[in-house]
Amino acid sequence: MTHKIALLPGDGVGPEVTDAAVAALSRAGELHNHSFEFESYPVGGAAIDECGEPAPDATIDACKASDAVFLGAVGGPKWDNAPVRPEAGLLKIRKELGLFANLRPTQVHPDLVAQSPLRPELVAGVDFLVIRELTGGIYFGEKSRDKDSATDVCTYSVEEVERVARVAFKAAKGRCRRVTSIDKANVLETSRLWRDVVVRIGRDEFPEITLDHLLVDAAAMHLIQRPKSFDVILTENMFGDILSDEASVLTGSIGTMGSASLGTSNPGLFEPIHGSAPDIAGQDKANPIGAIASAAMLLRHGLGAFDAAEAIDHAISVAITNGETTPDLGGNLSGSEAAKAIVDLIGVTASPHHLITSEISRRFEPA
Ligand code: NAD
Ligand code: IPM
Ligand code: MN
Repeated sequence: MTHKIALLPGDGVGPEVTDAAVAALSRAGELHNHSFEFESYPVGGAAIDECGEPAPDATIDACKASDAVFLGAVGGPKWDNAPVRPEAGLLKIRKELGLFANLRPTQVHPDLVAQSPLRPELVAGVDFLVIRELTGGIYFGEKSRDKDSATDVCTYSVEEVERVARVAFKAAKGRCRRVTSIDKANVLETSRLWRDVVVRIGRDEFPEITLDHLLVDAAAMHLIQRPKSFDVILTENMFGDILSDEASVLTGSIGTMGSASLGTSNPGLFEPIHGSAPDIAGQDKANPIGAIASAAMLLRHGLGAFDAAEAIDHAISVAITNGETTPDLGGNLSGSEAAKAIVDLIGVTASPHHLITSEISRRFEPA
């Protein structure tokens, strides 16, 4: 079966890591009988340069008409003062596709424990899943700016919280059955609504799941002090953005982290959580693991191609064990060499002792 994949390479290291993801998808597809039709579309700064806007209608239409979307990264200093920024394009695509649930698995590979700045006993065995609400909150509220002041409004509706809470509880069912909801209910009205709704959904629909709550400031601390205690973290848009970058440090590098953005009616979008990394762009230094892990999530959550997804996760794991990594993980390979090492390992049997992202994979199917 041929799957239509819309590629949005974007800016900075985006195109480099997109190439890595395409190579991994192609290899896994070859081995597991999936063929792909890849087509690239402009997004972000590249789209501003080409079409005058960061998410042209043609790009959005192509995303909607695809089976899954892969995005590299958007943004960069060139467009920092543009009237509409590259980042606005990504936000528009998330909103137009209704991608309200963003899954950011955070697992520490046993051979990368020493890459974290934390003590090994704190990070060995870390395995949690951040579910970040992606189409609401302060990102999407009314904004204004005049000479003397600026405003960003934060709004959440009951329905927006209900649907993402259900994703988190369902994910927890297939994991260790614990959800930690993170908010700022001691200060924010939206957080008080968030907490009320999460408590109700948990009590009425998922009584078998243990639910607790943390205020976001304390959560930032607990993520460092006791990261192993988390199973599923459920949080709103901006807190999830910040906490998932913090969490990435546990894994050794932000360059390892993949993500899936899912909704109900449109195709999913899959992207590494890192940005366009302008400081290393164009130098073939970007770690391709986050992009390749996102490709595995595309297969699993976007296409239901579980075997192919597993083969990619396994290859990532073995490459790490072999030390075939970029400098951010202590290796000495270029980005393209690290990607080739992973691609060459896809389908090669070896005994896995760890599978990045595969935990949620087999057990969690989004609605
Ligand atoms: P960033 O994630 O681009 O970079 C932060 C640091 O991590 C940099 O030192 C970078 O070199 C390093 N890094 C990132 N990805 C890496 C990789 N694959 N391998 C090795 N090192 C890597 O964040 P930033 O510098 O704050 O943002 C740069 C631009 O990217 C901004 O315009 C921002 O808005 C944008 N951004 C886009 C996305 C996205 O497209 N999803 C995500 C985050 C930031
Ligand atoms: C991310 C990024 C985006 C976000 C930006 C580029 C809009 O930081 O995907 O984590 O804040 O959601
Ligand atoms: Mn971010």
